[in-house]
Amino acid sequence: MKRIGVLTAGGDTPALNATLHGVVVRANQCKIEVVGFIKGFSSLFNPRVPHVRLNPLFATIPELDSSLGGTIIGASRDYVDPQDTETIEKIADRMQRLGIEGLICVGGDGTLSGMQVLSQYFPTVLAPKTIDNDLGLNYRHEPDEWQREPIDGGAGFRYVRGPSRTRFELGQLVNYVTPGYATAIYVTATGVQRIRTTAESHRRIAIVEVMGRHSGYLALGSAYGQPDIVLIPESPLNIDRLVERVTDIYELQKNVVIVCAEGIVDEHGRELGEVHQSYDPAGNKLLSGAGDALRHVLIERLGDTYFTSKRRNESARAAVFTRKVGHTQRGGRPVLFDSFYASQLGGHAVDLLLEGQVNGVAILQYDQQHGFHVSGINGNDFRDRWGVIHARQVHPSFYDPERLSLSRTGVDYLMPIFDNAVGTEDLESVRQTLFRRSNLTEPYHSVNVDINKRICYLN
Ligand code: F6P
Repeated sequence: MKRIGVLTAGGDTPALNATLHGVVVRANQCKIEVVGFIKGFSSLFNPRVPHVRLNPLFATIPELDSSLGGTIIGASRDYVDPQDTETIEKIADRMQRLGIEGLICVGGDGTLSGMQVLSQYFPTVLAPKTIDNDLGLNYRHEPDEWQREPIDGGAGFRYVRGPSRTRFELGQLVNYVTPGYATAIYVTATGVQRIRTTAESHRRIAIVEVMGRHSGYLALGSAYGQPDIVLIPESPLNIDRLVERVTDIYELQKNVVIVCAEGIVDEHGRELGEVHQSYDPAGNKLLSGAGDALRHVLIERLGDTYFTSKRRNESARAAVFTRKVGHTQRGGRPVLFDSFYASQLGGHAVDLLLEGQVNGVAILQYDQQHGFHVSGINGNDFRDRWGVIHARQVHPSFYDPERLSLSRTGVDYLMPIFDNAVGTEDLESVRQTLFRRSNLTEPYHSVNVDINKRICYLN
């Protein structure tokens, strides 16, 4: 191959530039030109295909800094519709005119789902990213466990997860962890720690809502901040048990910190945070307000007297508060674990293209003997029998629904990732950059300004 393309799709994560850097470094070694498409798939839909040469004369452009969060080539949630043959053929033609012989897409399950149709025209490889850590499998052939049933009124199908295999070992995980997750946990765990002191000082119950859609990995990993309770979407909310745990803990320490995933569901499987049925452009349901909904439940169930009778607080409303970590968990400088393995995955994606993979996925594997190492898998292995790719869910063995917290296996899962996730340079960068005097006097210089000057178009 002489020239390949790369794009970053879906929501941004802190490690995207690190992945791009890995792609370009490996491509430089192999004397391959890398073209970065602007704003994900959106570039391919544009007849002018805005793009940037990321390694002119096989030298990486200076803007590509692996310690910079976000993505210098931009991202969007535009996806290719596999039924839209006309558009797909136009894309294939544009790629040919640009001399692109293979495409690396940096993205999550939505990206993998949308890009596969392109592999019929030119080789594609996914380099994974997502703070949700939901691109992967608990074990091979897990997609076969999905069932589908028609939705009343003929409006398509509902996909239902059959029971998980109970015999499960961590070494079976396919794509153990995705770049972006470690940095997001660094942010959420810090947030949980910081909210604790307010809850403690003011005798309050804090609910910290974290992202993750229908997967509870972000909530699970936030356990590093030592919340008292962790609620994940995979374990339907048992309100009686929750109230019992909350009161037990409150009696003891006069404060409670709860981490709540944005996708938690009630005992009927209804999302607490689904205020209205809305979808983002990729077809994902937008979730917002699980923390608030949970707060209302607790206010109602605990009641004012619980707090006023012993002068613990002036009302249930005053005592129970909620905060979202929000997009801060998705942005900023990646921690060492993410930047290192994102780069490795980017480099491996190039190797998979060179090996002749046409629909490949670069994955990060872990076992005790070899530690973390990159490997490859076919994109089809993520699909169920109807071709649908499902977000990976937290395996039941990671969670203890009695204690409403992570289990021993959950602890074992997290430790290899986080034992050395933060490097001294991560901490040093805070020391050196946050309170730089020039931050107060100089305006922010966006990398977009420099990249704009490099954008080329297809004539
Ligand atoms: O998939 C990543 C993610 O951050 C989810 O955790 C969250 O639900 C969603 O994206 C938020 O999307 P948006 O960027 O559109 O607010």
